[in-house]
Amino acid sequence: MQYWIMGAGGIGCALARACLARGDQVVIFSRTDPAIDGAEWQAVDNTDQAALTEATAAHALPDRVINTLGMLHQGEQQPEKRIEQLDEAAFSNSLRINTWPTLAMAQLLSARLTRSQTLQFAALSARVGSISDNRAGGWYSYRISKAALNMAIKTIGIEWQRRFPAATIVGLHPGTVATRLSAPFRSGLAEGQLHTPAQAARHLLQVLDRVQPEHSGRLFAWDGQEIQP
Ligand SMILES: NC(=O)c1ccc[n+]([C@@H]2O[C@H](COP(=O)([O-])OP(=O)(O)OC[C@H]3O[C@@H](n4cnc5c(N)ncnc54)[C@H](OP(=O)(O)O)[C@@H]3O)[C@@H](O)[C@H]2O)c1
Repeated sequence: MQYWIMGAGGIGCALARACLARGDQVVIFSRTDPAIDGAEWQAVDNTDQAALTEATAAHALPDRVINTLGMLHQGEQQPEKRIEQLDEAAFSNSLRINTWPTLAMAQLLSARLTRSQTLQFAALSARVGSISDNRAGGWYSYRISKAALNMAIKTIGIEWQRRFPAATIVGLHPGTVATRLSAPFRSGLAEGQLHTPAQAARHLLQVLDRVQPEHSGRLFAWDGQEIQP
């Protein structure tokens, strides 16, 4: 099987390694070279649509595309505890990293897909982007950009069922995973709640192995359970 993996963070790299271990071929699209033996690396900022279109143009469409981009905190930008902390530039930055690349990738895939092509496109989302599951509040930029991502996935799913009925797009929640993204927010986790990136990659590939075109537009957790929007 051939994969395009967008982003080489903690989960992106673990997914690449897990795919290679299964004998799959992997092209990683990321800003810096993760130097993973056996994987091909293509330098690109996945938030830049023109650059992404150019970087992917030389490659035949794969069987699976997995977008692993995501940002909860970066430099000065921290998840908001109260509405007064919300900042327009930071909010736009969250949408640019957490929402836009999936839309940009879906757009370039749609220009190249045929009706009978069985491509799967998975974007890593987060349970906190579920509107019905929001009990704790806070984290405005992250929650809203992931909720928007979930709506993007749902909307593309509806369009693809009509235009590309053999293709699939889903959102995946990886669980709480020991990466840079979750590092400041892990205190108070119950025993066994924190997964290693390798465990998360294994879980996510197991979910993807069961996903069919009729699941398009939906969001699944690492254990295969569907998450309601
Ligand atoms: N870790 C968790 O507990 C957890 C929980 C729920 C959901 N998730 C989701 O899982 C996905 C993977 O997260 P992770 O834990 O692997 O995080 P990570 O190690 O921090 O990786 C983040 C990725 O996002 C990309 N990225 C971040 N800022 C960017 C920017 N300004 N411009 C372009 N690309 C940028 C990076 O791309 P480059 O490789 O190009 O640098 C990197 O590949 C995300 O969607 C995250 O929201 C994670």
